[in-house]
Amino acid sequence: MSKFYITTPLYYVNDEPHIGHAYTTILADVLARYHRSFGDDVYFLTGTDEHGQKVQQASEKRNVDPKSHVDEFVIRFKNIWEKLHISNDDFIRTTEKRHTDKVKEVLNALWEKDEIYLAEYEGLYSVSEERFITEKEAEEGNFREIKKIKEKNYFFKMSKYQSKLIEHIQNNPDFILPKKRANEVLGFLKQPLNDLCISRPKSRLEWGVEIPFDAEYVTYVWFDALLNYITAIGYSADDEKFNKWWPASYHLIGKDILTTHSVYWITMLMAMEIELPKSIFAHGWWLMEDEKMSKSLGNVIRPLELADKYGVGPLRYFLMRDMVLGQDASYSFSSFMSRYNSDLANDFGNLVNRVTILIRKNFDAKVPIPGVLGNAEEDILKLTNETSEKVKSAILELKIHDAIELIMNVFRSLNKYLELRAPWKQIKESKEDGSPSATCLFTSVNVLFKTALLLHPIMPSKIDSVLSMLGQKCPKNIFDVDLIKENTPLGDGKSPFPRIEV
Ligand code: ME8
Ligand code: MG
Repeated sequence: MSKFYITTPLYYVNDEPHIGHAYTTILADVLARYHRSFGDDVYFLTGTDEHGQKVQQASEKRNVDPKSHVDEFVIRFKNIWEKLHISNDDFIRTTEKRHTDKVKEVLNALWEKDEIYLAEYEGLYSVSEERFITEKEAEEGNFREIKKIKEKNYFFKMSKYQSKLIEHIQNNPDFILPKKRANEVLGFLKQPLNDLCISRPKSRLEWGVEIPFDAEYVTYVWFDALLNYITAIGYSADDEKFNKWWPASYHLIGKDILTTHSVYWITMLMAMEIELPKSIFAHGWWLMEDEKMSKSLGNVIRPLELADKYGVGPLRYFLMRDMVLGQDASYSFSSFMSRYNSDLANDFGNLVNRVTILIRKNFDAKVPIPGVLGNAEEDILKLTNETSEKVKSAILELKIHDAIELIMNVFRSLNKYLELRAPWKQIKESKEDGSPSATCLFTSVNVLFKTALLLHPIMPSKIDSVLSMLGQKCPKNIFDVDLIKENTPLGDGKSPFPRIEV
């Protein structure tokens, strides 16, 4: 059995969860569910980033202590993941003792190994991003609230790992995906790498993990948060759980945090002498009708509103179908609606209704007893089996939108097959055992069953409803199932994707 350890970023607990956060988490969930179905041993981690200036400021504004503030705000993330059917195995908060204790251990170990030093530094600091930035970055204009700051701080000797990092990226083509992101990082690494400032004086920031060897300082929020990927699984070199799961199969992130993951995190691991993760995958950006989504633009989409109105499954389906993994994608209400109506209500939902209604009315709601299968039947069953295999490969290559298209293609072919055979006409001639109408509906219900199953990781609860209409339950391995036997009773219900008029 292979193991599959997948992570999402730890979202800033202060922010209101929006469609961008939902995207990364649903993506991780979909991959986790497919891999469970492959028979892999899966660990799926998400959580929240709870230290730093923004949290401190927000809690001061509300006149509560930061711990109560984060305790209150984390609930929004926990609730939304539950509502969106996220099957995470763990949820880590950077304020948990299991995390902060380990962060201190790591700091101590690196201090003793001489990987950390104290120095005075003068530089440009972006308050909004909570980090020192270079002159060049300041000129590029992507940072806000820039101040000149001069102070003593602790630094991690990141620069000494520059060539080792470049070598690792070059020798491991899957280490940073997609490839263009690896090239971006290599481009960034053409400039000399600085050491990383990993502390903040308490005079400026108190809400953080205290540096264990200097009580005047707390740890920089990124140095703290990145460590979650190992603290959550109980990091210490000889820990059984840690050794079972590490290295991560995928760190899923958005392209906004590529540098922190592929440079800061990786050099930290090198200094700790810990094996590197297998792959960092940076996906693209959801844009709102081509504009960046942001609080200040007031165009943030609240995923729950869509899920509440149109269903969790359709939201998950849309997000997975409309973003080519790695590229940007544009959200608009009309693209969501047209995807819903054309794929889910028409091609899939009508099909489910049509087949089940014909069987209920004419075959006593039991899977008909087929005669000899003809060419058209052999063809569509063959397409169904081949699609199973192809979907599996597409998922392994992280081509989720392709996997969905392959699946929808079977539904469209089944619709064509039904038009061709017209069982509603065949029935008028005969609906005896082995008649053409029985053969056609036996074939149809099975194609529908095998293919709908493949969508289970994308829309678990909606597909459960479809399966129950077919009198079936979701098996552990969705890629290898037997045909439903003749005479098996169907269940009740109608398509969970009613057409929506707008
Ligand atoms: O950066 N489109 O947290 P964060 C797609 N705490 N994905 C989006 C998105 C959008 N418009 N907006 C956000 C942080 N995301 C740090 C991470 S990790 C140890 C610490 C997703 O709350 C995407 O995954 O700003 C992005 O990387 C993440 O949310 C940033 O979340
Ligand atoms: Mg952000």
